[in-house]
Amino acid sequence: MLQLAYTSLACKPFKQADLLKLLQQSRMFNAQKDVTGILLYKDQSFFQVIEGEDSVVQDLMASISKDYRHNTLTTLYTREISSRNFDLWSMGYVNIDHNHLDLDGYDNNEFKFPLQNLQGNLSELVNIATAKKLVITFSKREPVPELKASVNKRA
Ligand SMILES: Cc1cc2nc3c(=O)[nH]c(=O)nc-3n(C[C@H](O)[C@H](O)[C@H](O)COP(=O)(O)O)c2cc1C
Repeated sequence: MLQLAYTSLACKPFKQADLLKLLQQSRMFNAQKDVTGILLYKDQSFFQVIEGEDSVVQDLMASISKDYRHNTLTTLYTREISSRNFDLWSMGYVNIDHNHLDLDGYDNNEFKFPLQNLQGNLSELVNIATAKKLVITFSKREPVPELKASVNKRA
């Protein structure tokens, strides 16, 4: 299995509705293909981790890198994994744009986000070392009970 992390810049600011549409589309595909991961959005930028079978991850990355909605895609790392970090998530999602964090599936009260107070977009903030820290931060977090069904089944 492969795990891949990248950052990119959205061509225009994503509204909440745009993000939801992207998430719905992604979760449906990811559930079918057994892809898991997380997507962060901040200041018109994305950080995403995807994991799954090698060829599936490679094909998905080929599609994602052609997507007209973003550009300046930088792969931070690709690594072989024997177990997943996001096995509960077809695509966990965090919007860091608001003062009030929008944590789709994460428990807001327990959660302290390491990038919340930093200025700038994710392409500037996240390097390989930060990417690995973020993966550990979000890894294996249980979906909050009321979201568990929708997060996993909507997927
Ligand atoms: C930031 C970003 C993240 C995306 N993440 C996923 C994803 O996790 N899974 C997915 O199926 N599509 C994702 N997409 C959508 C793909 O780029 C693409 O639209 C989708 O795979 C369909 O591709 P196709 O038209 O080549 O079949 C993402 C798009 C963007 C802009």
